Amino acid sequence: MKPNIFVTRMLPEPSMTKLKTYFNVTINPDDRVLDKHEIIEAIPNQDALLCLLTDTIDNTVIDAGKKLKVISNYAVGFNNIDIKTATARHIPVCITPGILTNATADLTWALILAIARRVVESDKFTREGLFNGWAPNLFLGGDVTGKTLGIVGMGRIGQAVAKRAMGFEMKVVYTSRTDKKISNAQFVSLNELLEVSDFVSLHTPLTSETKHLIDTDQFHRMKKTAYLINTTRGPVVNELALLDALKTNIIAGAGLDVYEKEPLITPGLLALDNVVLLPHIGSATVETRTKMAILAAENAIAILQGQKPHAIANPEVLT
Ligand code: NAP
Ligand code: GLV
Ligand code: GLV
Repeated sequence: MKPNIFVTRMLPEPSMTKLKTYFNVTINPDDRVLDKHEIIEAIPNQDALLCLLTDTIDNTVIDAGKKLKVISNYAVGFNNIDIKTATARHIPVCITPGILTNATADLTWALILAIARRVVESDKFTREGLFNGWAPNLFLGGDVTGKTLGIVGMGRIGQAVAKRAMGFEMKVVYTSRTDKKISNAQFVSLNELLEVSDFVSLHTPLTSETKHLIDTDQFHRMKKTAYLINTTRGPVVNELALLDALKTNIIAGAGLDVYEKEPLITPGLLALDNVVLLPHIGSATVETRTKMAILAAENAIAILQGQKPHAIANPEVLT
């Protein structure tokens, strides 16, 4: 008899075919996020759960999964899962690191360039038929080349963002829990990073330590000409404090891919020109999402076959 897996939303092929060779697959038939109670109803007989970062997998969900042997998250971030409860139940939580690093770093750079060079505002202006010819003061932005980039959280994606800064002849400073001894990048405190950076880019996971890491005090430490870029998780920034900093020109602008109460966006942000707003598309390329889906499927299969998965958020359960 094949083991059972519940997949909370359709994933790109060939991962679904791969899953079907090993599992009896039940898939959410609708292309929408399930609410927690729908997942609770669906999982009592499941050996595996393949879920998304939009699914809240808290203790009530894990408790409902009486037969659950693996939770495979289709994401590198796993703040949507109650790791403590999963670990107490000896359930491995698998994730998809590495393969989405370049796509997410590229999107971070899209935001850096878009906000500094006012790409979105200019596009709107042009489409509205307002372009009447080159003008000395049309959409003046901020320079990128030669400026200082501050990376908060120098992990896989932080390092990939820093690497791209070399081409822009930027000075790179970073803060992380540990000194990475990276050549061409200087390890500094968060306060120093905020004070010297022209671009502050966030790449820490969301944890109890990083929630509201960037708040009113931090915006006041930043240069008035600086930009904040957030492609990690919304709650790392106090979004109301950000709105205030943008409205009162405490900082020059922001580029966001993620939101504190996603998919809700603090309403005032929508009215501002000095912020670029993307709908959480950091890893959204055909190639990357296809690879992530295969990895998530392989992780679930590996656990049920007693093999090591590609990546696990709670490795202690395997020992
Ligand atoms: P990673 O390799 O684990 O890097 C995270 C880094 O953050 C680590 O280097 C860690 O430092 C540092 N860190 C942790 N807590 C910190 C703290 N309190 N203060 C300062 N630094 C801290 O993870 P990754 O693969 O780069 O992914 C990072 C995050 O990006 C994910 O957790 C996810 O939330 C987000 N993400 C978003 C998208 C998107 O679509 N927008 C796509 C992919 C990922 P140490 O190494 O010193 O411990
Ligand atoms: C995306 O946000 C991820 O964590 O993979
Ligand atoms: C601008 O188009 C220039 O030629 O300087």
